[in-house]
Amino acid sequence: MTEDIQIYKDSPTLTAAAADQFVALARDAVHSRGVFHVALAGGSTPKRLYHLLAERSAGKYKLPWDHIQIWYGDERHVGPDDPDSNYRMSKVSLLDTVLPPEENIHRIPAEHSNAADAAADYETEMMKYFPEAVDHNTFPVFDLILLGMGPDGHTASLFPGTKALDEKGKWVTANWVPANEVVKEDTWRITFTYPMLNHARNVTLFVAGAEKADRLYDVLEASKGTDKYPVQRVKPAHGTKTWMLDEAAAAKLTIAR
Ligand code: 6PG
Repeated sequence: MTEDIQIYKDSPTLTAAAADQFVALARDAVHSRGVFHVALAGGSTPKRLYHLLAERSAGKYKLPWDHIQIWYGDERHVGPDDPDSNYRMSKVSLLDTVLPPEENIHRIPAEHSNAADAAADYETEMMKYFPEAVDHNTFPVFDLILLGMGPDGHTASLFPGTKALDEKGKWVTANWVPANEVVKEDTWRITFTYPMLNHARNVTLFVAGAEKADRLYDVLEASKGTDKYPVQRVKPAHGTKTWMLDEAAAAKLTIAR
């Protein structure tokens, strides 16, 4: 794995760099392989990224959307119109403007009353696009997976102490998350598993804001090299893990300065 830590002075600069990276990876993937498979994330920084990509979609950030396959790294156990839906957030902030072909948008069918069925159906849909992974009994290689880091060190819907952390075979799984500082009520989530994340070509982690500074210091320095926090187990074996941080989140770091 290659790990890269990038620090930007504020949120707009971070968002612009994220948009540049998105566009560069998309163009490169489409040029080299004819398709860009990207997994979108929930959270505040991704939302700003989607807005910017939408705002400038006719100019600097014009992309070959016909060749872009859009997936989701995790989802809340709600329908597509729910204000908590990650799919809805991406639709309102990006997809409704850039209008990719409907068939290129692969949302997690989280309206299923059984979250495990939603995860299984999503995996089945994905299998159609990654037949080589099915044939070789391995995992899809995503061109880019966007992630955030919660204040408890979770990423995607891989929360500390939850069962999905130990999933080794499934691509996508349902995860029972007891109420905690982030999730107010016990709930199901649907999430990519570690083997999925760790087969990607690129994983980008967005972390912004002073409230993340202590946790980020622990993750990147104090407990570096351990698996104390879920986000530390994201290690794309043949890929690049890029941390995109703003100065507020990076305030406690001594490395990369
Ligand atoms: C979500 C993601 C979650 C998120 C982090 C960071 O659906 O929200 O599951 O992993 O990326 O909680 O979110 P913020 O960037 O908003 O702090």
